Amino acid sequence: MNDLLFPQNFVWGVATSAYQIEGAWKADGKGESIWDRFCQMSTGVGDVTSGSAPGDHYYRWRDDLDLMQSLGVRSYRFSIAWPRVVPRGRGKVEQRGLDFYRRLVDGLLERGITPYATLYHWDLPQVLQEQGGWPHRATVDAFVEYADVVTSALGDRVKHWFTHNEPWCISILGHGRGEHAPGLRNDLLALAAAHHLLLSHGRAVPVIRRNSPGCEVGIVLNLTPAYAATDNALDTDKARAFDGSFNRWFLDPLAGRGYPSDVVEDYRRQGVPEPEALGLVHAGDLTEIAVPCDFLGVNYYSREVSRAGVVPEKLNQHSLEPLIRDGRYTEMGWEVYPDGLHDLLVRLHRDYAFPKYYITENGCSFGDGPGTHGIVHDTRRIAYLREHFAAAHRAMASGVPLAGYFVWSWMDNFEWGHGYRQRFGLVWVDFETWRRVPKESARWYREVMRTGMVARAGEGDSSVKKDGIMALQ
Ligand code: FCB
Repeated sequence: MNDLLFPQNFVWGVATSAYQIEGAWKADGKGESIWDRFCQMSTGVGDVTSGSAPGDHYYRWRDDLDLMQSLGVRSYRFSIAWPRVVPRGRGKVEQRGLDFYRRLVDGLLERGITPYATLYHWDLPQVLQEQGGWPHRATVDAFVEYADVVTSALGDRVKHWFTHNEPWCISILGHGRGEHAPGLRNDLLALAAAHHLLLSHGRAVPVIRRNSPGCEVGIVLNLTPAYAATDNALDTDKARAFDGSFNRWFLDPLAGRGYPSDVVEDYRRQGVPEPEALGLVHAGDLTEIAVPCDFLGVNYYSREVSRAGVVPEKLNQHSLEPLIRDGRYTEMGWEVYPDGLHDLLVRLHRDYAFPKYYITENGCSFGDGPGTHGIVHDTRRIAYLREHFAAAHRAMASGVPLAGYFVWSWMDNFEWGHGYRQRFGLVWVDFETWRRVPKESARWYREVMRTGMVARAGEGDSSVKKDGIMALQ
């Protein structure tokens, strides 16, 4: 059996986000973010005090970068905390915050690691939330100003930019389902937030390009392919609706097609008026949103299996219970389904043909910690990554221009609404002392990054059986 060989210029990297690793939530003039606030609310994050100190990376960044270098990392996707740079959302810039990222970027470049920066990974300045947050159109202007500040300062040395990370999570989880900051439960606000996120992306792109000549820029979506549990019409329609509200609601406007009419109709049936009727979409918005980008960033973790009659029937809801009886699951309860990554990439390229793609996040939560001799034997993570790399390779073999792959995550961190219970890292972190221990997966991945080669999975190490769904019958 041949190993899989990736192209020499394939970008292998790791990913994190500011709020999940930095800590230092009040240091050096940083403003409060909606996640700082959400973590303090009783309805916010369950088992943890807050993300006030995750990873302590703000103070340990030099050691972290040394470790990254020693483990062969060549590209690093991180995010910039808006409230560190512009503590009150608009206006005065906090030089100390900006300097932190300047040092970080210089530190990466000195170590031969290419920076890939995300401007917004969920930590809106709380002040802006109090003025209405993402459902409020003025936040679009605030984001573009912030993007201007950051890219003016760093645009000479950062040449890969992501505007937003996962607008679905920000809008729907944060404003529709209340599971993320700011913890609201209102479908109208969720759709307004989604529209303004997309618009702010579209408006920021030309600003970023002006400030960072020769850069590439795009947005990151979390995409979840939907499979009907059976070919029964009700199930296939449920899969259509899930795909529509979860994926196409964001893909279609970015691709210049406006909001998908079938989903507009689904929303209308649930009592949510269409974006135009809500007065959200101003003349020219859809053109701005569809600004051509250099790539699409894809975060892939799992798939959705749609079965009619299983609660809940509302749009945007995942199935509540695992539907695949013989499926495998990570500790997040997410099904391991590598074929979904292949199918997703092929479908994206067939239906949308973005110029190229990055997997900007893919990874798994397994709690393995240091055993005897301090070694973290996270073999399930290695198997997960191997299978997903193989799925990506298959998609490339069928013509998808996939340019790179960022494993989520570089290190264990603050997993949003799940607090510290879920460990996604290649590096294990002791959440009391902040000690770091590279897991076996980090060493395995070092070889993948070095050689561009992935050994094929052996028998018994393969993905979920294709007929897993049918086992339910
Ligand atoms: C994604 C987020 C990322 C991380 C992973 C597990 O939705 O972008 O910050 O939490 O999920």
